[in-house]
Amino acid sequence: MLSKKFKILVTGGAGFIGSHQVDALIEAGHKVIIVDNLSSGQKENLNPKAKFYKVDLRSEELSSIFHNEKPDYVFHFAAQISVNQSLEDPVYDADVNIIGGLNLLENCVDSDVKKVIFASTGGALYGEAEEVPTSENYPSEPMSPYGIAKLTIENYLRFYNQQFGLKYCVMRYANVYGPRQNPKGEAGVISIFITRMLSHQLPVIHGDGHQTRDYIFVGDVVRANMLAFQSEENDTYNVGTGRQTTVNELFDLIKDELEFKQEATHKDVFHGQQVSCLSYEKINKALGWKPENSIEDGIEKTVQWFKNK
Ligand SMILES: NC(=O)c1ccc[n+]([C@@H]2O[C@H](COP(=O)([O-])OP(=O)(O)OC[C@H]3O[C@@H](n4cnc5c(N)ncnc54)[C@H](O)[C@@H]3O)[C@@H](O)[C@H]2O)c1
Repeated sequence: MLSKKFKILVTGGAGFIGSHQVDALIEAGHKVIIVDNLSSGQKENLNPKAKFYKVDLRSEELSSIFHNEKPDYVFHFAAQISVNQSLEDPVYDADVNIIGGLNLLENCVDSDVKKVIFASTGGALYGEAEEVPTSENYPSEPMSPYGIAKLTIENYLRFYNQQFGLKYCVMRYANVYGPRQNPKGEAGVISIFITRMLSHQLPVIHGDGHQTRDYIFVGDVVRANMLAFQSEENDTYNVGTGRQTTVNELFDLIKDELEFKQEATHKDVFHGQQVSCLSYEKINKALGWKPENSIEDGIEKTVQWFKNK
């Protein structure tokens, strides 16, 4: 299996995580086809060795791409990724993340795709969990339409597997960060802090900054996806570090790395989830994966990338 080369369709391959995945697949010798509507993805992220279709996930054109390309595997990253936007416009979120996802799965079944690797969420799935780090069998009670849509596609994957034998792995990521993360959205606090400090602007922390997240470096996420793609299992895995970092600690780490002199400003009260941290015990036992980049190492690499940009 490891030495065999495949044709792989990557949705969202012009985005942050998807583009790193494309690079890794091409590096491993696979042929890659990217489907992305460039709504948040960047042309500059596109690997020149991949074939690119500027197509929306929800479009009927998707079936002719599947028909012509006949991919063996699908990595599904394309999504509306903002939790806040999903709260403001749940219909749009569901349209892209549920209807678009279903359009993709229908095509996967029609084209006899061997397996789908799905970019789900751990951070937005378990709500304010009492078990920390949180494991996969903790009840999934998402607090946003974004989390609900991700959970819905997880359920459809189980259904498509039972009904049509379509194999899958669900990857529930913690908060992913690293080079190429778009600082213009509100998803990537690390890239937002770095770009603000580099342009001598003061980052704003919402609330007291004691809220915690589990930050996972993008290279570790790509490695986990590769192992899931190579495994025969249909399963659901958290991909996190088991370590919590507060927003204040994050600010200090980036501040030290950039030798930024000012202190953070705190604004408003933070009403969101207070704690989020994922156990990676299951993926460690099943696929031998563990995170290799500490938050300190990952921030150093990310800062270097933004500095060189
Ligand atoms: N970044 C994180 O912390 C994180 C955490 C958990 C899960 N995820 C999931 O990982 C995946 C990738 O996230 P990312 O951080 O790389 O975001 P991103 O915005 O960089 O990537 C998403 C890509 O999907 C494309 N896209 C959006 N809507 C589309 C549509 N209708 N048709 C075709 N393409 C479309 C965008 O242009 C973009 O290139 C998403 O599914 C996201 O929900 C991300």
